[in-house]
Amino acid sequence: MIGVLLGVLFLAANGKGVVDASPPSSQALERLQTCYPASAPAGFGTVGMEHPQLWTSAWWQDALALQASIEAIDDDDAKSSLCADVASRENAPWENTFETSSDDQLWWTLSWISCSPYSSEYLYRSKALHFHVLETWNSGYCGGGVLWDSSLTYKNAITNALLILSSCEIFKVTEERQYLQTAIKTWEWFAESGMINSDNLVVDGLTEDCNPTGDPFSYNSGILIHSLSSLYEITNDKVYLANATFVANAALERFQSSDAPGILADDCCKSVDDCDCNHDGISFHGILARSLAAFVKAGGDVDGNVASVLKFNAETAWDNRDADTNQIGIAWEGAILEDMDPNDACVAQTAGIQLLTAAGM
Ligand SMILES: *[C@@H]1O[C@H](CO)[C@@H](O)[C@H](O)[C@H]1NC(C)=O
Repeated sequence: MIGVLLGVLFLAANGKGVVDASPPSSQALERLQTCYPASAPAGFGTVGMEHPQLWTSAWWQDALALQASIEAIDDDDAKSSLCADVASRENAPWENTFETSSDDQLWWTLSWISCSPYSSEYLYRSKALHFHVLETWNSGYCGGGVLWDSSLTYKNAITNALLILSSCEIFKVTEERQYLQTAIKTWEWFAESGMINSDNLVVDGLTEDCNPTGDPFSYNSGILIHSLSSLYEITNDKVYLANATFVANAALERFQSSDAPGILADDCCKSVDDCDCNHDGISFHGILARSLAAFVKAGGDVDGNVASVLKFNAETAWDNRDADTNQIGIAWEGAILEDMDPNDACVAQTAGIQLLTAAGM
């Protein structure tokens, strides 16, 4: 099977005379759509639970795949029908999303906002999910912040960074002040929480006695960079952009491949030979790339460099794709395409599309 695949790949690589004129993000999207089953698979129906869902086997990564697709599609009718199709796929009530962890709910909050131009139902979903997470805000415990999971006591970086970002995004669409207030209140708590360490990296969360704990992951930095960029866009207050710049500077330095400087990489995939991310970890650098693009769009930069970092990453990842299928690898500096778990491949493709879109390709 692999041999056959490589043979085809070789021919296709040599046959580059047949140039596909559509942009790389569109070509990559065609591959991602092969992850999306033509009809809901057997056993499908319990939103947010473990078995395969839409594009991937994880509910939060399905939210990413929807958002990445919306951003890579250039036609409004196609965007609208994808949103409608996803909404119709749920055999169980969509409200089952409320039973997933808070960060999953907020990833879906963001994706439904991406769909909000096409139906008021999607904005309604965003607000309902956001409201549900915000109900876990508790100032009596670690001074504020929302919980990662309503049944637990863990307050973590990703959930609270997503709360800032999704509040900003809902505010941009609705101009309802309460969302901006939530964004600012959450950032003020986050900044003092200890989750931003002395190197300006964002650690995973807080222990039960409210001390910072866990490793820095690139998506924690990414969502915070995006949040602060959005707060700057909304308020025009340069302090937010300064704070985004600190976090971006640290992230660019830290989350690099060890064998290909400048290529965005998490610790779980430091080099092609040392790449062993779990399903979640495959997504992280795609989220960082998308966030850095938002930072640049808001007027942010680090040494006049961020746009060129994104372009370099996108060109490298695209050059290293499987030329036959347009599958993008987990390590952007040298695709690991053989023996890829099919679910991992769909997650890696989502991250690759986020990168291509971030670089305007
Ligand atoms: C945000 O930026 C301001 C102005 O540079 C700085 O005083 C403050 O310490 C920063 N906060 C964080 C959490 O980085």
